[in-house]
Amino acid sequence: MDLTLRRAEAADFDALIQHDQRGFGTTHSEAWIAGMRRLLDLERFLFVEDAGRVVGVTGSVPFPMGVPGGQLDIEGVTWVSVLPTHRRRGVLRMLMAAQLETMTTAVAALTASQGTLYGRYGYGAATETRRIRIDKRFARFRPEAPDPGGVRMISAREARAHAPEVQARWAVGTPGSVLRHDVLWDLFLADPEEDRDGGTALFHLAHPDGYASYRLHHDRSTLVVRDLFAATPEAHAALWRVLLSGDFVSHLETGVSPPGDPLGFLLTDPRLVETSEVRDGVWIRVLDVPAALTARRYTAEVDVVLDVEGSRYHVTGGPDGAECTPTAALPDVTLGHSALGTLYLGGHRATTLARAGLVEGDAHRIDTAFLADRPPMHGTGF
Ligand SMILES: CC(C)(COP(=O)(O)OP(=O)(O)OC[C@H]1O[C@@H](n2cnc3c(N)ncnc32)[C@H](O)[C@@H]1OP(=O)(O)O)[C@@H](O)C(=O)NCCC(=O)NCCS
Repeated sequence: MDLTLRRAEAADFDALIQHDQRGFGTTHSEAWIAGMRRLLDLERFLFVEDAGRVVGVTGSVPFPMGVPGGQLDIEGVTWVSVLPTHRRRGVLRMLMAAQLETMTTAVAALTASQGTLYGRYGYGAATETRRIRIDKRFARFRPEAPDPGGVRMISAREARAHAPEVQARWAVGTPGSVLRHDVLWDLFLADPEEDRDGGTALFHLAHPDGYASYRLHHDRSTLVVRDLFAATPEAHAALWRVLLSGDFVSHLETGVSPPGDPLGFLLTDPRLVETSEVRDGVWIRVLDVPAALTARRYTAEVDVVLDVEGSRYHVTGGPDGAECTPTAALPDVTLGHSALGTLYLGGHRATTLARAGLVEGDAHRIDTAFLADRPPMHGTGF
C-alpha cells in the first residue's frame, strides 16, 4: 500500500459521493446528492488515497451547537469512512490525527456508528438519544396538566416557512442542538417516497412556539413522530396533546423525546412512556479548553483548577458567565479530553465519571455546576 493524505477540493465531489456509497454500503438519491453539493465545502474534507484512489475520508460541516446557556460555532465531523478493502490498517488513525490538527473551533462534535472508535481521539459521549413507545389507548393527560392549545395543521410549504424559525429558537441553550441547515430542511420536508419506510406522507403541526412532523404506519395504527421542536413548555405540552389524540392510532413511537423530557410527567401514568433504546448521541471533543469553558454557563458557582491531560486551567463561573485561564496551581480535578467532552454539554455527572475512574480528585467541585438545566438533544443528524 502507498497511502497518502491530502485536502480535498471542489472537483473531488463525485469521488467523495462514490467513496461514501462504497464505505457505508448505501445508494444516495439524486436529490440528496444535489443537496450535498449545496451543503458541503470540500476544503473541509481530507482524503487518504492508495495509489491515487480515495480509500478513506473525513470531513466537517460548521454549524452553531447549543451549549448550556447559549450557542457556539463548532465543527461537526462527518462522512468518516474507510473502504472495506483498506480497514484496520490505520487509515482512520491517519485521518483523525490530521483533522484534529486542522480544526480551528473551540469544540468539535460527531455522532458515532460504533462506541469504540472515537474515545482514543479525545471525543467523549456527551448526550443520549432515546427511543420511546407509548400505548396511546391508555395515555391520559393529568387533569391539571397544561393545556395551552394553539396547534394547527399546516402544509409542507407552511412548515418550511415556520419550522426553521422555531427550531432556531429551540436550539439556543438546548445543549447539543444542531441548528438545521436550509439544505437539510429542504431535503426533509420534500419527504421523498424512499424516506417513508412504508408509511404515509408527513403531516405537520404548528404552534407559535413549536413544530412537529409525523407519519402513520401499519394501516394507521402507529404514529411515528419524526420531528418535534418546542421553544417553550407550553408548545411542548400543546404539541404532545395533539400527537396523543389521533383516533385510529393505538401506539406512538419516536426518537425525538430525549432522557429528561417532561413528557411522562404530563400523563396520569408516566410508565406508559416506555423506553425501547437509549444510546449515545453527540460526542464532543474540546479543542480549546479556555474558549470552550467560557462559551457555556454553569448552573451553580464554580471555582476550580482542572488538569486536562497535563495542562492546568483555573475555571471560575456561574449562571452569568465564566473565566478560564492557564495556571500552575495544583489541580482539584484531573481528567482526560474524552471525559471533559462527556461533561461539556451537562448531560452527565462528574461524580458518575469519577466512579468509573475517568475523573480524579474532588469531582463534587464540578458535579452540579456542569449539569445542564435542559435535556441535551441534537435533533438533527450530521
Ligand atoms: C470505522 C472505520 C472508519 C474504521 O476505519 P479503519 O481505517 O479500519 O480504522 P483504523 O485501522 O485506523 O483503526 C483506528 C483505531 O480504531 C480501532 N478500531 C477500528 N475499528 C474498530 C472496531 N470496529 N472496533 C474496535 N476498534 C476499532 C483500531 O483498533 C485502531 O486502534 P489503535 O489506533 O488504538 O490501534 C471503518 O471500519 C469504516 O469505514 N466503517 C464503516 C463506516 C463507518 O462506520 N464509519 C464511521 C462513521 S461514525
